[in-house]
Amino acid sequence: MDAIRMVGIVKCFGPVRANDGIDFTVRRQEIHCLLGENGTGKSTLMNILFGLYHPDAGEIYINEEKAAIANPNDAYLLGIGMVHQHFMLVNQLTVLENIILGKESGGLLLNRRESRRKVEELSQRFGFKIDLDEKVANLSVGMKQRVEILKTVQGSGHHHSGRTHCGSDPAGGGGAV
Ligand SMILES: Nc1ncnc2c1ncn2[C@@H]1O[C@H](COP(=O)(O)OP(=O)(O)OP(=O)(O)O)[C@@H](O)[C@H]1O
Ligand SMILES: [Mg+2]
Repeated sequence: MDAIRMVGIVKCFGPVRANDGIDFTVRRQEIHCLLGENGTGKSTLMNILFGLYHPDAGEIYINEEKAAIANPNDAYLLGIGMVHQHFMLVNQLTVLENIILGKESGGLLLNRRESRRKVEELSQRFGFKIDLDEKVANLSVGMKQRVEILKTVQGSGHHHSGRTHCGSDPAGGGGAV
């Protein structure tokens, strides 16, 4: 079963052809690494998958059904999460607050205890040693990436068995996605 199939993806920025007919398939449970020099279009392809960019041509199939991914919300609903190359964290908030930010139902009355339990469980499952009460401003780059990963994994695709996560290298230099 193909979790993701991107076919003939083309994306141009003015004269720059960032993606030129890319075919990319990920089967369930597979882990892929896109390698390439800076500016070869890796982030562009992932941004298309996450609905941040719209391709000029090409098609995307998720779990073998054609998908129209207009925005990141559509991607989330299809079970696709993104760990961004440039962190999207609020420095003034704690690790836990960042992870649950925007994810809780029930308006202003956040159920902290329940959220903490869920995040602790997830963190343990990944073998992350991370202090949920530390302010994000005080974390190293590696730790911030773990927070991004926890945020993504706990946020995406609650109602789907097939979940896909994509990410970029945090330094923005190495080029792995
Ligand atoms: N929003 C944009 N506007 C204009 N040009 C863009 C935009 N996004 C990407 N590009 C251009 O598209 C090309 C591919 O960029 P992209 O960021 O996808 O590469 P990358 O493989 O992720 O590089 P890196 O290894 O540096 O992360 C580059 O020439 C880049 O300058
Ligand atoms: Mg990139």
